[in-house]
Amino acid sequence: MNRVQQKTTTSQSIPDKYKCDKCKDTSWIQGENGLKRCQCYKLEIVKRRWKKFGVNPDDVKSVKEYEVNTSIRVDARNKAVRYVKEFDAIKEQRNSSVAFLGQPGAGKTHLALAIGKALLERKDHVEVIYMPYLEATRELKANAMDEENYNKMQSKYITCELLIIDDLFKDKVKKGKLIGELKETDMKHIYPIVNQRYVNHKPTIYNSECNANMLLDLDEALGGRIIESCKDNIIIFKYCKENNHRLEGV
Ligand SMILES: Nc1ncnc2c1ncn2[C@@H]1O[C@H](COP(=O)(O)OP(=O)(O)OP(=O)(O)O)[C@@H](O)[C@H]1O
Ligand SMILES: [Mg+2]
Ligand SMILES: [Zn+2]
Repeated sequence: MNRVQQKTTTSQSIPDKYKCDKCKDTSWIQGENGLKRCQCYKLEIVKRRWKKFGVNPDDVKSVKEYEVNTSIRVDARNKAVRYVKEFDAIKEQRNSSVAFLGQPGAGKTHLALAIGKALLERKDHVEVIYMPYLEATRELKANAMDEENYNKMQSKYITCELLIIDDLFKDKVKKGKLIGELKETDMKHIYPIVNQRYVNHKPTIYNSECNANMLLDLDEALGGRIIESCKDNIIIFKYCKENNHRLEGV
C-alpha cells in the first residue's frame, strides 16, 4: 500500500474532522439526565424546513453581497446588519420585528434570508423559520381538516424564535396596487400567526409588495399590528425602476 492509499483508508474509518465536534456527527450528546439531542440536530431540522420551500440556506446570499449605491439601500443594509448584531437585545423589545416593503426586485428576500441565515448559523442556532406566504398558507389550507397536523404546522410559525414571512399577500397586489380583498379563508390562516407573534413580541420579518397603507387597507387590525411591531424598522422601497435590481444594466 502506498502512502496515499494508506491515508485514504485511515480517514474513512476515523474521520479527522467532524462536521460537529460536540457529538461527532451522531446528533446525540450526554446531558444531565441521559442522552439528549445536539444543537447540530436542531440546525439540520430547521434547514430541512427551508429546503421544503425550495431555499437551501447554504446557497443564500449574504448581507455583504447586497450592493449599496442608493440611500434606501444603505438604510436597508444597515438595518439588516444591526438586526443580526443586536438580535439578542432586539428580541427582548416590544418592537422586535422588521419589514421590507414595496418594489419587486428591490432585494427584500435577499436581505430577509441573509438575516435568517446569519442567525441560523450563529453558535446557538437561532430557530429561524422561512414562511413563503402563498406556499405556506396553501399548505395550511390543504391540512385544515387534519386538526392535529394543522395545529402542529401553525404552532411552529407562531412559536419559532424568528419567523420570515415572505411575499405577504402576494395574491392581493400587482404593480403597486391592491387587486383583491382579504377573504375570510385568507384571514383564518394568517391572522392567528401575526396576532400571536404581535401579542408575544416575537421577532418577525415581514416582506411584502404592499406598502404600509396597503397593509392597513387590506385589514386595519392586522396591518396595524405589523406596523406597530416593526415601528422604526420599516424599509419601504418606492415603486420605481431604480429600485428594481433585476433591471440593473438592462
Ligand atoms: N442591492 C442589491 N445588491 C445585490 N443584489 C441585489 C440587490 N438587490 C437585489 N439583488 C438581487 O436581485 C435579485 C432580486 O432580489 P430579491 O428577490 O431579493 O427581490 P425582492 O424585493 O424580494 O422581489 P420580489 O418582490 O419580486 O420578491 C436577487 O438575485 C437579489 O440577490
Ligand atoms: Mg422576494
Ligand atoms: Zn452535533
